[in-house]
Amino acid sequence: MALYSEKVMDHFRHPRNVGSIENADGVGEVGNAKCGDIMKMYLKIDDDIVTDVKFETFGCGSAIASSSMATEMIKGKPLNEVLQLTNKAVAEALDGLPVHKLHCSVLAEEAIKAAVQNYYENRK
Ligand code: FES
Repeated sequence: MALYSEKVMDHFRHPRNVGSIENADGVGEVGNAKCGDIMKMYLKIDDDIVTDVKFETFGCGSAIASSSMATEMIKGKPLNEVLQLTNKAVAEALDGLPVHKLHCSVLAEEAIKAAVQNYYENRK
């Protein structure tokens, strides 16, 4: 069996929603100290709905695929649903990740949560 699923390879080769958003409503940046990879998420939020999302990931292929899939999963969703997105759901949507690469999907979950938190802080 191939180490990476076709979906992982597809999102790695053709990542969706790459880039940044000027005047984003929420920005979250997280990193993994062990591998040194960094992920940044930008959210545009209107009436508690994610209307646009972009990411910049300086990291491995699994991190890029996870960011890409995670952005597709939260686009158009209300924040209460967005906050429930788990790394497990991202990995499952990618048809799985090798066990030693699961931490890459954790970055996606954490970056999105950090961006939503930043949005709530900005609104205070
Ligand atoms: Fe660090 Fe993938 S190896 S995020």
